[in-house]
Amino acid sequence: MDAATSTEAIAGFYTRSLDILASLRTRGVAEGETERRAPRFSITRTAELVGRTAAAIREAEKDGRLPQVERTTSGRRVGYTLAEINQMRAVFATRPWRAPADPVAVIAVQNFKGGVGKSTISTHLAQYLAIQGYRVCLIDCDSQGSSTTMFGYVPDLDIAEDETLYPFFRNAEMTSLAYAVRETHWDGLYLVPANLKLYSAEYELAARIARAERTLLNRLAEGVASIADHFDIIILDPPPALGTISLSVMRAANALLVPIPPTVVDFTSTTSFLAMLYETMGALEERGLPVDLRWMRMVATRADEQKSMQRELLGLMRNLFGTTLLRTVLKDSAEIDNASARLMTVYELEQPVTSRETYQRCLTYLNGVNAEVETLTRLTWPSHAERLRSAGVL
Ligand SMILES: Nc1ncnc2c1ncn2[C@@H]1O[C@H](COP(=O)(O)OP(=O)(O)OP(=O)(O)O)[C@@H](O)[C@H]1O
Ligand SMILES: [Mg+2]
Repeated sequence: MDAATSTEAIAGFYTRSLDILASLRTRGVAEGETERRAPRFSITRTAELVGRTAAAIREAEKDGRLPQVERTTSGRRVGYTLAEINQMRAVFATRPWRAPADPVAVIAVQNFKGGVGKSTISTHLAQYLAIQGYRVCLIDCDSQGSSTTMFGYVPDLDIAEDETLYPFFRNAEMTSLAYAVRETHWDGLYLVPANLKLYSAEYELAARIARAERTLLNRLAEGVASIADHFDIIILDPPPALGTISLSVMRAANALLVPIPPTVVDFTSTTSFLAMLYETMGALEERGLPVDLRWMRMVATRADEQKSMQRELLGLMRNLFGTTLLRTVLKDSAEIDNASARLMTVYELEQPVTSRETYQRCLTYLNGVNAEVETLTRLTWPSHAERLRSAGVL
């Protein structure tokens, strides 16, 4: 037998891999600091995000409505954090929050195929929406913990099982998911992290559901409902399989975003995903747990338009899905790869890893996709839909 196949050898690889991850994690932390630094925004960008002029912000700082901003020893402003920007939004009454009567948006980024960009979209969408000033919660429903990793955690080192969805799935007497909701270094953005233990929930739930505890598929929906009042948007990042957790995600969601890379293999599995989706929706409905979606969109991801086959498939997808396919294509970008190698998103990079041009292009695709999702979400909120219509967005 090859020595590398023994249980001890594999366990050894596992522990050494964790060490590597722990050292990669430190790349995302600025020198001299122990934790991830919250991103900072220039005065121009701040003014744009707050919806007031730079002059109005400076005025409010002078007359004491806003605190004086920190300066470097040379007198330059350090830039504003998201927390400071959100404070300005409160002072100027420009917060974009939903009205209490508007339904919370629960967006599942779902495709049963692995590696299509679900976690990449979930984390970038969550951070984009937080930058816009929404109250966001990202729930990592995948035992691989990819979204958790993008917030700088090594799931199996930094997260305990009772800090994930796991206890909530296990204990019927728990009524709130609040115990698992943690702050992040992004103001207004909260995370329910995952680690490997969540994989146990998958088969424990399956066994219990087989013993006729069918309403367990409603457990995640109950968890989401228990924290919904605190948020505008909740994003669910599911595992790449049709299991009990993915079913629970479908049941908990009220909007669905399906990432599809324009390759034949991914298109084939998306076709099976659609078949499973309508069967699953039917099965859940029969169990008295209907899936109720306010919108569903596909999004082309990891696209390389240099490849003629991909261009052709994109055209076919556009014909087939029509307006159900987002206008923006999320192209394959070295910046996304480079950011994730630092356990970060592109929104956190303080400077381009490749070139300014590649970085800007990548931000354009990301912002395009995220802005389309933002508009779809706002259209589900009566208080916002009216504003969008009168602003001529529709
Ligand atoms: N547009 C993109 N450009 C470059 N790399 C990308 C892009 N989208 C995703 N990736 C990379 O592809 C890999 C898989 O992406 P991701 O983890 O988001 O997929 P996933 O669908 O969540 O996977 P899983 O099914 O395992 O949960 C990651 O390394 C990610 O950095
Ligand atoms: Mg993932």
